[in-house]
Amino acid sequence: MRYKDLDFPKESVFLVTGGAGFIGSNLCEAILNMGYQVRCLDNLSTGKQENVDLFLEYPKYTFIKGDIRDLDTCKQACTDVDYVMHEAAWGSVPRSIEMPLYYEEVNIRGTLNMMEAARQSRVKKFVYASSSSVYGDHPVLPKVEGQEGNLLSPYALTKSVDEEYGKLYKRLYDLDTYGLRYFNVFGRRQDPDGAYAAVIPKFIKQLLNDGIPTINGDGKQSRDFTYIENVIEANLKACLASTEAAGEAYNIAYGGREYLIDIYYYLCDALGKKAEPNFGPERAGDIRHSNADIGKAKKMLGYNPEYNFAKGIIEAIEWYRENL
Ligand SMILES: NC(=O)c1ccc[n+]([C@@H]2O[C@H](COP(=O)([O-])OP(=O)(O)OC[C@H]3O[C@@H](n4cnc5c(N)ncnc54)[C@H](O)[C@@H]3O)[C@@H](O)[C@H]2O)c1
Repeated sequence: MRYKDLDFPKESVFLVTGGAGFIGSNLCEAILNMGYQVRCLDNLSTGKQENVDLFLEYPKYTFIKGDIRDLDTCKQACTDVDYVMHEAAWGSVPRSIEMPLYYEEVNIRGTLNMMEAARQSRVKKFVYASSSSVYGDHPVLPKVEGQEGNLLSPYALTKSVDEEYGKLYKRLYDLDTYGLRYFNVFGRRQDPDGAYAAVIPKFIKQLLNDGIPTINGDGKQSRDFTYIENVIEANLKACLASTEAAGEAYNIAYGGREYLIDIYYYLCDALGKKAEPNFGPERAGDIRHSNADIGKAKKMLGYNPEYNFAKGIIEAIEWYRENL
């Protein structure tokens, strides 16, 4: 079933943390368009005011500017909420290697605060963002839940600890938690700027501005690039999943495999540019290949992603052409 056809009780209230960011703002938009109430909690540290302004005219949208490191803020945000989608965190593997203490505070303590607040408010479901980085250096492909290797960055460690808390909150307090291990998400509103920008929006913007992108490493690394619509579907379906499926983490991807160098030339063609890329050093903490087995999410959450890479990238390019 397509996510737009999913049915929640009419007066449902959703809390989206990190709702001023890339994934969170797309979740807010999808839920508002389905007719439900959305509360967004964000401290605008990496998120953008313009991603809040987009929705201020919706009567069912409320914005709380606040920090998940503050338990009282989390409690206030969770009051009378039915479903939490917890996206607030600091992303980027290389940045976490530069500032591990900060990642611990936001990604671990912040998530624990949110789970605790959700438990006290007796929310129905607590769905939270994890990451494919929890697979660390485990060599097996595709990545399957339960086969994780040594972690390669503080970022990966924070997500792994979050999953442990997710399991524990189900076991100890019967809070229905669902960890979603996103694999390289892309799509509208993903930030193309800054030293830690994701590769797809960064390359699109550079090519549109006649710049020459730099590929870290030889470009032969591969990823399961996942279009934002699939991530929205996973979040909404997790909110409707059975209680037996709670306390677990799930791969959220398409199940495909794209090489960076191929994506580079695809984008050049699609944007009508002819430019050979620069090659830079590999990034510390990076995994060489990563693609997902999505069988568990299909079985337990009813996840059935509609967008393969080719379908998603066409929409994404279209959006950047119109909005950059
Ligand atoms: N984008 C991806 O490919 C990807 C992959 C794996 C996991 N994830 C996870 O998905 C989630 C969303 O990622 P995104 O790409 O939308 O990132 P993003 O940076 O666009 O959004 C994160 C949001 O969280 C907010 N935030 C950060 N610290 C906060 C705090 N202390 N209090 C309140 N709000 C705070 C930021 O202001 C921002 O709006 C994150 O948890 C991230 O780790 C993303």
